[in-house]
Parts: sequence; structure tokens; C-alpha cells
Amino acid sequence: MDLHDYEDVAENYDLYLDAMYRNEDNHSGFQEFYLDFAREYGKEGVIDIACGTGAVLLYLAEHGIMADGTDLSEAMCRVADEKARQKGFRLHIFPANMTEFRSDRKYSCAIIARSGFMHLLTPELQKAALLNIRENLVDGGMLTFNTFDPHPFFQAQQMKTRETDYSFRLEYTNKQGQHEKIYNAISYDPYTQIMSGNWKYEVLDDQGNIIEERIRPLKMRQTYRQEMKYLLELTGYEIVDIFGGYHMESGNRSAKNVIWCVRKK
Ligand SMILES: C[S@@+](CC[C@H](N)C(=O)[O-])C[C@H]1O[C@@H](n2cnc3c(N)ncnc32)[C@H](O)[C@@H]1O
Repeated sequence: MDLHDYEDVAENYDLYLDAMYRNEDNHSGFQEFYLDFAREYGKEGVIDIACGTGAVLLYLAEHGIMADGTDLSEAMCRVADEKARQKGFRLHIFPANMTEFRSDRKYSCAIIARSGFMHLLTPELQKAALLNIRENLVDGGMLTFNTFDPHPFFQAQQMKTRETDYSFRLEYTNKQGQHEKIYNAISYDPYTQIMSGNWKYEVLDDQGNIIEERIRPLKMRQTYRQEMKYLLELTGYEIVDIFGGYHMESGNRSAKNVIWCVRKK
């Protein structure tokens, strides 16, 4: 299965992501954070980049902010669009790569929520995305995205893990009402800073027998803070805030989830 093929997950993404993050605080408070950010900086328009199935986009719409949305995956855009229509919103949601999209307007606020930026696997792609987003922002426009700090403890563990060393993550009921178990295996390459994972989905019948199995790859790149600071300087942004989580925890020291809030210079 292709790395960027979300066709098989799009329908169930909201169901299992909710289950996955219910007991993890890495993403807790993300919708409120982005709503506050959009309220503060989005007077001349908001775009949700790598919007997925619209977890942020629709939350903003429900709170009166009609943002545009874009995602590399047509399937994710389609699900986001269907959800928006069901809720009575007509939003402009279009498939595109964040390294090269062009909208017919500029924005004062761009959001890349919940690790979308980490799907860019090389510094060159990160640079291309930052430069391109800058082109889509008005002067002084704001961008927020998050990265994971490479953490020596987890790196050491993941360097020993192979891409097939699965651990159980969660179980949930899919859109067809079937019971699914999800496992993942994540390994880390310190030279490329890429976390390479495989996610395994087992669909079970009523007796608990596996009737279907899907495996999909997932790769995300971790970024050192100093590296990101230089990259932002190189691409024409000034850093406004660095938070250590969506509750605006101090980001001065190493944090697992680093939230960058930067302004187009
Ligand atoms: C972890 S999901 C986050 C989705 C959404 N922001 C959320 O909070 O639910 C990452 C998303 O990034 C998208 N993506 C990956 N690479 C991309 C790229 N180069 N340009 C635009 N979207 C991309 C994927 O298709 C996927 O929907």
C-alpha cells in the first residue's frame, strides 16, 4: 500500500483516532488550541493544510470560522467534504500537496494540525512547504504546525524495533459495525530522523477470528529544534511562540510535541 494512500483509512479515521488519543495527552486540547489561534490571527482568512477528515476544519466551522481545507489525499478531502455538507457547511476543500498548492486567495492564518508537517520526510520537502505556504499568506500572516523533538530514550528503543515488531494499540468498531484491532511497529533511523512504521488492521468476526488484515506504512520525520529554527529563518518566518503541547505548556525544554507559531516576515 502506498505511503500516501489514505483510501482505506479515510472512512474510519475519525473513529479510531478518537479511540487512540482518548488515553494519550499528546493531542489533548488540539481543537481549542487551533480555534483560539484562528480567532486571533484569522481575520483575513484561515486555511487548514493537511486537513485530513476535517477534525479541525469542522470544529472551526461549528464555531463560526469558515476556513478552507486542503490535503494530499483525495479520500481524506472527500470525507471532510461529506462531513461538512452533512453539517450544512459549504467549505472550499481541495486536494493538493502542501509543497505546491495555490489557492485563489491569501490567508492571514495557516494551520497544519496534528503532525501533518511531520509527513514531509526530508529537509528539502519541509523547506518547499514552508516557502509555498509563505506565498499563500498575507504579509504578517501566521502559521502553526507541530514537530516531535527527537528523544534519546524513545530513539534508542525504536532503533531496536523492526518494522514488523507489532504492539497492540487499540480496538474499535469500524463504520461497517465490525470489530477491528490495530497494531503498530515503529522503528527509527537516526540518520534520516525518520520514524518508519507499519500499522496493521485486523477485522474480526463475532467469534474473534481474523477475517481480513490490512497493513499500511506510515513514515514521519522528527526535527531537531535548532534545525527548525534555521529552516524558519531560511524560509522567511519569525518565531512568535514555541509551546510544549496544545495547552500552551512552556516549550523551552525538550517536549514530545512541539507547537510552532510563526509569522511571515
Ligand atoms: C496525521 S494526519 C492529520 C490530519 C488532520 N490535520 C487532523 O488533525 O486530523 C496527516 C494528514 O497529512 C496529509 N498529508 C501528508 N503529506 C501531505 C502533503 N505533502 N501535503 C498535504 N497533506 C499531506 C495526509 O494525507 C493526512 O491526511
